[in-house]
Amino acid sequence: MRIKKRKWTMPFLNKFKEKQITLEDLETTKFSDLFGEKKIILEIGSGKGDFIATMASKYPEYLFIGVEVNLTVAAIALKKILDENINNAYLARLNVKDLLPKIPGESIHGIFLNFSDPWPKKRHEKRRLTHEDFIDEYWRILIKEGKVYLKTDNTSFFEYSLDKFRQYDWRVNYINYEYKGNEPFDAETEYERSFRREGLYIKRLVAIKGGRSHASK
Ligand SMILES: C[S@@+](CC[C@H](N)C(=O)[O-])C[C@H]1O[C@@H](n2cnc3c(N)ncnc32)[C@H](O)[C@@H]1O
Repeated sequence: MRIKKRKWTMPFLNKFKEKQITLEDLETTKFSDLFGEKKIILEIGSGKGDFIATMASKYPEYLFIGVEVNLTVAAIALKKILDENINNAYLARLNVKDLLPKIPGESIHGIFLNFSDPWPKKRHEKRRLTHEDFIDEYWRILIKEGKVYLKTDNTSFFEYSLDKFRQYDWRVNYINYEYKGNEPFDAETEYERSFRREGLYIKRLVAIKGGRSHASK
């Protein structure tokens, strides 16, 4: 997402630290000590926060963490969470690559990948959020039968992701090339709204962590 850093970003983020997770926090506090026994759902690349704000309001029994590397976008999402008085949503304003190793095994209930950057060039493959290095980490942190929910407009990225999940023994139990936005455990994102307006097809899959006891490699 290309968005100019705005002047208010850092003062705003610094003012409302209690709803955020930063790398500095994770140097002094264990991830597991931050949220106790809560049922945690991650959205990786949460953008301006429409998805987690809606989901957190709809599903108070879960704790939602939006992971967003772009500070201005993260600040916009944080503002939404504060304005709407949502108490079961947090923002991890960092690169998910730095967050994943800090998350204990089998502690996350679900992961949403909504319109992740497709990184189409082969030389950028490792940046795709469904590269095996990432899905191996998702496998480690998810509880048994935990799910990855993926939506995208990009057919190549969709098929790449589908192949990766299958290759690494996930059970893909939902595949839809013309998703209408009608699943209950879901909410519309900013990108989705604009793609739907343009008439683009949205693809969706759900991959379930199966019964293996070790990571895929
Ligand atoms: C294409 S946008 C989609 C935003 C939102 N999910 C939506 O559907 O409207 C992708 C978002 O992922 C964020 N992002 C990309 N790579 C990331 C990473 N490694 N860690 C955290 N956020 C990331 C970008 O900054 C951007 O805001």
